[in-house]
Amino acid sequence: MQPNASAPASKPQSGVLFVGIDLGTSHSAIAASNGVRTSIGSFVAYPRDVISKKALGRDKLFGDEALKHKHACDFYRPMEKGEVLYRDLDKSINRDPARTQQAIHDLLEHVVSLAKPRPDDLIYGVIGAPAQASLHSQKSLLEAARGVLDCVMICSEPFAVAYGLNFLTDTLVIDIGAGTTDLCRMHGALPSADDQVTLSSAGDAVDRRLFELLREACPGADFTINMVKQIKEKHSFLSQRAAERVVVTLPVRGVPTQFDVTEALQKATESIVPEIVNGLHTLIAGYDPEFQAGMRDNVLLAGGGSQIIGLDKAIERKLAELGGGKVRRVEEPAFAGANGALHLAQDMPAEFWNQLDG
Ligand SMILES: Nc1ncnc2c1ncn2[C@@H]1O[C@H](COP(=O)(O)OP(=O)(O)OP(=O)(O)O)[C@@H](O)[C@H]1O
Ligand SMILES: [Mg+2]
Repeated sequence: MQPNASAPASKPQSGVLFVGIDLGTSHSAIAASNGVRTSIGSFVAYPRDVISKKALGRDKLFGDEALKHKHACDFYRPMEKGEVLYRDLDKSINRDPARTQQAIHDLLEHVVSLAKPRPDDLIYGVIGAPAQASLHSQKSLLEAARGVLDCVMICSEPFAVAYGLNFLTDTLVIDIGAGTTDLCRMHGALPSADDQVTLSSAGDAVDRRLFELLREACPGADFTINMVKQIKEKHSFLSQRAAERVVVTLPVRGVPTQFDVTEALQKATESIVPEIVNGLHTLIAGYDPEFQAGMRDNVLLAGGGSQIIGLDKAIERKLAELGGGKVRRVEEPAFAGANGALHLAQDMPAEFWNQLDG
C-alpha cells in the first residue's frame, strides 16, 4: 500500500459507501459502512446457449446457483490462485484467460450489488489480495474494479484481518484460505514484503491430497473434487487421540457403499502443517530478537481453513519443536478479512486511493 499518483484530491465526508471486500478463491465476502455483511461462493456461470438461457432466465449466475447449473453453462472459479488448481481436477471449470478476467469483474460487481449501494453513492472499496500477490494479479484486480468502484485500494489479506481486530503489534496472522495461506508479521506499522509469506499449503491442497488418498482408501468408488471438499468441511479434524471413526458413503458402480476415511482425512489435513510452521518460523526468526517471544505467543489463525478442528493445537505442537508459541483462532473466520478491509477503507486518507474513471 503506497500513496499514489491517481489519488483523489480529498475523501468526501458524505454520499460515500465504504466497502471492504475479501475476493477469495472459494468465498467472497463484503462488509459495508451501511451495515450490510454477506458472502457468496466465488463461482460465476454463463448459460451456454439459447436453451439454457431460457431455462435459467438470466445471463449470469453466481455462487451456489452457478455451481448447481455448471453443466448447462460456461463455468468459472475466477479467483483461483496458488499452485493447486481445481480446474486440473474439475474439467467443468473454464480456463479462457480473457473470459476469466470478465468473470472477476462480474463477480466483483455482483458482490458490491449485495451491499445495496444507493444509485448516487460514490463507492470506495478496499479489496484483499494474497500477501505476495504479483503485480500482474493486483493490476487485474484494479482492472476488474473499473466501472464497479469509484475509488479502490488493494491490501494484503492477513494485514486486513489484523487491522480489523486491532492486533497491530507483535502479532503473526495466518489466513488459511482455499488457494493460499497468507502469513503476515505485524509490528505496529504497514507491513512490507519482508513481513509477509504466501504458501500453497491451503484448503485446495488438502482437497487435492484427500482426493488422491481416497482413491487408495475407497477402491472402485466414484467421486468428484467437490464431494471431497464437502467431506473435508464436514469431518476434518486433527487430534492426537484416536477420534471417532469417519465413515462416508460413496457410489461404487452406482451402488452406495460405506468407507472408513479416518486415516486419509487425518493425513490430508496434517499435510499443510509443516509448511505453515516453517513460514511462521521464518517470520519469527527474522524479527528483532527482543520482541520474538511476544510474537510467538500471539499467533492468530483466520480464514475458512482455520475451522479444521484441532489445527491450532497441531500448529502449536509443531511450533514447540522450534521454540514454542500460542495459537488462537479468530471468532469470525469468514468475515475477518472483509471487516478489516472496511475499517481500512474508513480510516485511510485520500492519497492512498486509486481513482477509477468509467
Ligand atoms: N469446517 C471446515 N473445515 C475445514 N475446512 C473448511 C471448513 N470450512 C471451510 N473450509 C475450507 O476453507 C477454505 C476456504 O476458506 P476461505 O473462505 O477463507 O478462502 P478464500 O478466501 O476463498 O481463499 P483464498 O484466501 O485462498 O483466496 C476452503 O478450502 C474450504 O474448504
Ligand atoms: Mg481469503
